[in-house]
Amino acid sequence: MLEEYFGLKEKPFSKTPDPRYLYLSSVHEEALARLQYAVEEREMVLLTGEVGCGKTTLTRALMDELDDTAYQIVLIINPRLSPAQFLKAVAKRLDITETPRFRQELLDIIYERLYQLDTAGINTVIIIDEAQLIPRRETFEEIRLLTNFQLDHKNLLSIILVAQPDLKRRFAHRVYRPLLQRIALYFHLPPLTEDETEEYIKHRLRVAGATADVFDKEAIRLIYKYSGGIPRVINTLATNAMLEAIGSDKRIVDASCVRRALSEIEFLQICTQVQTSRDKAWTSQR
Ligand SMILES: Nc1ncnc2c1ncn2[C@@H]1O[C@H](COP(=O)(O)OP(=O)(O)O)[C@@H](O)[C@H]1O
Ligand SMILES: [Mg+2]
Repeated sequence: MLEEYFGLKEKPFSKTPDPRYLYLSSVHEEALARLQYAVEEREMVLLTGEVGCGKTTLTRALMDELDDTAYQIVLIINPRLSPAQFLKAVAKRLDITETPRFRQELLDIIYERLYQLDTAGINTVIIIDEAQLIPRRETFEEIRLLTNFQLDHKNLLSIILVAQPDLKRRFAHRVYRPLLQRIALYFHLPPLTEDETEEYIKHRLRVAGATADVFDKEAIRLIYKYSGGIPRVINTLATNAMLEAIGSDKRIVDASCVRRALSEIEFLQICTQVQTSRDKAWTSQR
């Protein structure tokens, strides 16, 4: 209904990850370049960003860019794992079928596999998303020990830790110092700026088939203001504002549509969760 009303081919702000909708600001480009550098150089990198900022999207973009004949990717998206479960998860994704009883044996098998991959010219990349959910320091210790896998002083794998910024607070404790020393690169993905929010919205609409403006300037300004530039919140707010426009028979989504969309309780809850300090003022204005 939304598509037909606005003359689009697809829903512009849908949740399904689709590389065609990828929007890369200069900051995203830089983040992606650092991730690429980390995998090429087989380093450990930490990428942080608030919820909904686009961290997972960025790692998917990286995976899409890596040639699958040259890279073996081990993706761990739910890292609530004990050290033993973590090693088993890595082994499984490296197509290791043996299930030895002892940790050291499993480590030996993993090492052997990494060595084989390296000999075949394949670069192993472990991506751990939502790394702030890793419950215990011991699991981080296991991750750190994987970086000891070397051959002729060359690392056998790269590790990408993706996390919410809180993890940095945890890492500040001295027990994490050995791990921190292994992290060669760090990048924080900020929310979009106002100009980027506008480009992001227009980009998504263009990909969805828009040939004319769907939102007016003031609507975009308000979306930015209320979303704090967080793409996931922009998506929700933009979709709801479009639905409000349909409800009130408007061809262009204007500020009143955005305000009405905002008053939806559900959205307010999302807003409260992600509200950034930069945009704290908005609640008092409503
Ligand atoms: N660079 C981007 N280009 C296009 N869409 C994006 C981008 N970044 C985020 N999004 C959108 O925002 C949503 C949330 O992003 P996500 O990567 O899941 O955030 P995070 O992992 O930081 O919580 C995604 O589903 C996607 O629709
Ligand atoms: Mg994510």
